[in-house]
Amino acid sequence: MTSIRKNPWPSLTGDVLIAPSLLSVDFARAGEQIDAVLAAGADILHVDIMDGHFVPNLSMGPPVVGKLRRYTEAVLDVHLMVTDPEYYIERFAEAGADSLNFHIEATDEPVRLIERIRQLGLGAGVTVKPKTPVETIADIIPLVDLVLVMMVEPGFGGQSFMADQLPKIRAISELLTDKQRLEVDGGINMETAHLAVEAGANVLVAGNSIFAADDPAAATIELRNRIRR
Ligand code: DX5
Ligand code: ZN
Repeated sequence: MTSIRKNPWPSLTGDVLIAPSLLSVDFARAGEQIDAVLAAGADILHVDIMDGHFVPNLSMGPPVVGKLRRYTEAVLDVHLMVTDPEYYIERFAEAGADSLNFHIEATDEPVRLIERIRQLGLGAGVTVKPKTPVETIADIIPLVDLVLVMMVEPGFGGQSFMADQLPKIRAISELLTDKQRLEVDGGINMETAHLAVEAGANVLVAGNSIFAADDPAAATIELRNRIRR
């Protein structure tokens, strides 16, 4: 069993963090592409977990996170798109996740879930789908390290950025302290990244815009340049 890691968020002090999403990595060349994006300045790695129930797609499970953990020291930001997050928390913690984001739509007991993630010592995030209003997370925002706002319906990479979600980013950013992060996920590319940052996002998940590019390292650098203020 891999040892359980510690909450990475307090030590991630960059202004805006870039989080390439491994959903779009070329799995036959994953190590090489991970090394390339990290060397090009990516801050953390985003890992999408899909169970075929909460979203109509399947992706990876704890063994893949375990393999990633053995390969890299990079922070693994695990996005749980599953119907039973409570069932999976320990398993992903043991596999070596650093931070666990669960969907508010997937649980009736978010406070208990956050407490469990905290007991394990990991970072804790809550995620909202596009149609989920801010009010559903207002009470638990003070308990988390980050809020993840979906800019597409979860389930697939390569979808278009929903600009109508920008006001939600703005509204949530006003509820966060400067120690909490606001992560955006879905449709982030060279054209949309600055819109999310201007609205208040400070962690950018990017799948296709990095890993579907001919040169993922160059795409990472370009994404960084596009948000440089
Ligand atoms: C989608 C996932 C995303 C996905 C984003 O449900 O949560 O993390 O990898 O992919 P892009 O950046 O291609 O929209
Ligand atoms: Zn994601």
